[in-house]
Amino acid sequence: TRVLVLNGPNLGRLGVREPEIYGADTHADLVAAAAGWGAELGLTVDARQTDDESEIVGWLHEAVDTRAHVVLNPAAFTHYSYALRDAAAQVTSSGLLLVEVHLSNPHTRESFRHYSVVSGVATGTIAGFGFRSYRLAIEAIAQGLSLES
Ligand code: DQA
Repeated sequence: TRVLVLNGPNLGRLGVREPEIYGADTHADLVAAAAGWGAELGLTVDARQTDDESEIVGWLHEAVDTRAHVVLNPAAFTHYSYALRDAAAQVTSSGLLLVEVHLSNPHTRESFRHYSVVSGVATGTIAGFGFRSYRLAIEAIAQGLSLES
C-alpha cells in the first residue's frame, strides 16, 4: 500500500522558517521520518513538497490514478485553494483515504487560518503536533485500512 505525503508552499523551508512555530527540523528530516514510520506500519511512503499549486493538484490526480492514500499538508493553500479542494475531493470520492495535517494548530493562530477549504472533503484532520501530526496521520491510514478489511 502506497501513501503520498504531499506538502504545500513554504514547507521546503522547514528548519529555517519561523522555527518557533514550525520547529528546527528540515523537510529532508520529515521525508526520512515519514518513510521510517511508513515502513514500521508496512506502508510505502513517498513524501514530496512543492510551492506550485498546479503541481500539487497533479499529485492528487496521480494518487487517484495509482490508488495511493494521501497525507496532505496544503500549507497556505488550506485557506483559499478551491482547486486543491476539488482535487482532494476526487481522492476521497474514489474510496481512498486523505488525512489533512498541519504542524501548528491553525485555530490558535490568526483568524484567516481558522477556516480550511480542504477539511470538508478530507477523511480527517490532525493538527498541532509538529512532525508527530504526520506520524498520527500515517497511523490513521494504516488503522483505517485494517478496519475496512
Ligand atoms: C500549516 C498552517 C498554515 O496556516 C500555514 O500557511 C502553513 C503551515 C501548518 O502545517 O501548520 O504554511 O499548514
